[in-house]
Amino acid sequence: MAQQVKAVVAHAVGEPVRIETITVPDPGPGEAVVKVQACGVCHTDLHYREGGINDEFPFLLGHEAAGIVESVGEGVTDVAPGDFVILNWRAVCGQCRACRRGRPWYCFDTHNAKQRMTLADGTELTPALGIGAFAEKTLVAAGQCTKVDPSASPAAAGLLGCGVMAGIGAAINTGNVGRGDSVAVIGCGGVGDAAIAGARLAGAERIIAVDIDDEKLRTAIRIGATHSVNSRKEDAVERIRELTGGFGADVVIEAVGRPETYEQAFYARDLAGTVVLVGVPTPEMKLELPLLDVFGRGGSLKSSWYGDCLPSRDFPMLIDLYRQGRLDLDAFVTETIALDEVEQAFTRMHEGRVLRSVVQF
Ligand code: APR
Ligand code: ZN
Ligand code: ZN
Repeated sequence: MAQQVKAVVAHAVGEPVRIETITVPDPGPGEAVVKVQACGVCHTDLHYREGGINDEFPFLLGHEAAGIVESVGEGVTDVAPGDFVILNWRAVCGQCRACRRGRPWYCFDTHNAKQRMTLADGTELTPALGIGAFAEKTLVAAGQCTKVDPSASPAAAGLLGCGVMAGIGAAINTGNVGRGDSVAVIGCGGVGDAAIAGARLAGAERIIAVDIDDEKLRTAIRIGATHSVNSRKEDAVERIRELTGGFGADVVIEAVGRPETYEQAFYARDLAGTVVLVGVPTPEMKLELPLLDVFGRGGSLKSSWYGDCLPSRDFPMLIDLYRQGRLDLDAFVTETIALDEVEQAFTRMHEGRVLRSVVQF
């Protein structure tokens, strides 16, 4: 039987989100209905609301979520009712070239839920990032559910579904940070701080946090940075070189998404170092570099998409590290809020006052 639940819906560009009663259908073949326990508020939710992603309004927002599988459709074998799961953006095909070569994050034949959740008048909702978890229950593809240890706090676990995974993965998967490496992280919001946590997990010796805001730098130190640089007051590239014996960092992670920080990342790496780009620029942004510098410097320039994560490998592993006290996911949960406080959480996020607000059900 289809069910009615409360959810946060964005109806039009710039309009405050509204709480609506939506209909969640029974799971069809390959689908699952998940009782959401927690869902973080991410910049991407705000971008949907601001019309920055696409125009398929109305959107059912929310995508950094963990919960309990309530029911599954035909043919679902990987998860079962009662499982504690973290949701991911895309159920990948497993068959295409990218999947077969072990890079499922580049799969373009994804199979998210076929059925749509609807408003009371039957209007179909577009779930944010194929999830839509600012809702008491949501319909997803079973392939978007990864089972993890149920003793983890749902608020902390859900964060692995997006921004925190993107940051940790930028360090451990894309950047391949190793023991003894020096790492610089430019931009210490939720994603940059998660990159710092990832670098620490990987055994980096020196972790240099760069931001333009002293408060953010204090948080970065709390998360695990060993040095901080305010790039409004000091030249970030020079300072990173100084702190790395004149060489530059082995791995530089850019988590802002602006030309000046891309440029800093490019020059702050050791000649053989790696630049990992996580910050998402806008279409009009450009960066001009002397070709001799591009040619003359070794190393590599990589972009990181969803932390190059494999949910089935990374989610359970990171939850285990969290349970062992080696990864402080709770540090990313600034506040827990109720479903009807998402709009206020957007404001606080915009003002840069929280790492993550998390809706707890
Ligand atoms: N130099 C250094 N830091 C900067 C600069 C700058 N020029 N401009 C902004 N920042 C800092 C901000 O002070 C803030 O701490 O970058 C941080 C950005 O953090 P958030 O806005 O919280 O964004 P976050 O969620 O961490 O995402 C960062 O990664 O995945 C992408 O789309 C995401 O592009 C975004 C980036
Ligand atoms: Zn997100
Ligand atoms: Zn595929």
